Amino acid sequence: MAAPTPEREPVISVRGATAALGARPVLRGVDLTVRRGEVVALLGANGSGKSTAVRSVIGQVPLTGGTIELFGTDRKRFRDWARVGYVPQRTTAASGVPATIREVVSSGRLSRRRFGWLTKADKAAVERAIDLVGLADRAKDSVSALSGGQHQRVLIARALASEPELLIMDEPMAGVDLASQEILASTLREQVAGGTSVLLVLHELGPLEPLIDRAVVLRDGCVVHDGPPPEALGQHALPGHDHVHPHAAGEPLRTGLLT
Ligand SMILES: Nc1ncnc2c1ncn2[C@@H]1O[C@H](COP(=O)(O)OP(=O)(O)OP(=O)(O)O)[C@@H](O)[C@H]1O
Ligand SMILES: [Mg+2]
Repeated sequence: MAAPTPEREPVISVRGATAALGARPVLRGVDLTVRRGEVVALLGANGSGKSTAVRSVIGQVPLTGGTIELFGTDRKRFRDWARVGYVPQRTTAASGVPATIREVVSSGRLSRRRFGWLTKADKAAVERAIDLVGLADRAKDSVSALSGGQHQRVLIARALASEPELLIMDEPMAGVDLASQEILASTLREQVAGGTSVLLVLHELGPLEPLIDRAVVLRDGCVVHDGPPPEALGQHALPGHDHVHPHAAGEPLRTGLLT
C-alpha cells in the first residue's frame, strides 16, 4: 500500500471543477487529487456527480470552470492516454456485435499499438490481463454469453491490458457476485502493489476497503469529505493491513455518508 506522503506528485489534479449537463449544474467546484501510488475512493449517493467527475477527468465531459491536470499536464493538452486505464460504469444496454473475450481485452491495447498490429508484447499483456481476472479458460468465448460479473471482469482486463500507471474505475463492483468481487479485489491489490495509482467510484467500500488510502465524498456536486475512508480508521490505516474483513464477506459496509 502507498505511504500517504504529501510529497508524491499528483497523477490527477482537479481544481474548482464545474460542469453542467444540459441546464443542470452537476459539478459545483470539485477539488480532487490522486497522488502517485494512491488508491482514492470517490463516494456519494446516486446522482451526486461521481461519474460526471471521472468522465470529466478522461475528457468525456467538458468543464465550465476550473482545471484538470493528468500527470502534471493540462487535460486539454494531455495525449498520453496509454498511461490511463478506464473502466466505465456498467450499463444494462446490450452490446451489438458479439466479440470474444480476447478481442475485447485486446482493444485495451490499441493506444499502445504503433504499427497497426499487435506485437508479441501486446499479446502477452492481453493474455496476462485475461489470466488476472480468472477468465483464461474462456478467452475464446463470446462476451455475450457471460454473466454481468464476468462481463465486468472483461472490462477490467481490457483496462489492465494497457498496463496503465493510472486506473480509473466507475463502480467496478456494481452487480458483481461475491466470487467476482474477490477476484477483482485481489487483481487490484496486485496492481497497487506494482505501483499503479487508482481512482475508484464506489457505493460501498466492501472488499476493497483495505486497499483504500483516502476517500472523497460528493454530495450534490460538492466535496463534503476528503480524508480517511469513513469507518476505516484505526488499525485499518496501517501499512500491510490487507486482510478481508468479516463484514466484507457478506453485507456491504455502510458508511452513512452516502445517503
Ligand atoms: N446526459 C445527461 N444529461 C442531463 N443530466 C445528466 C446526464 N447524465 C447525468 N445527469 C445528471 O447529472 C447528475 C449527476 O450524475 P452522475 O451520473 O454523475 O451521478 P453519479 O454520482 O455517478 O450517480 P450514480 O451513483 O447513480 O452512478 C444527476 O443528477 C444526473 O441526473
Ligand atoms: Mg455513476
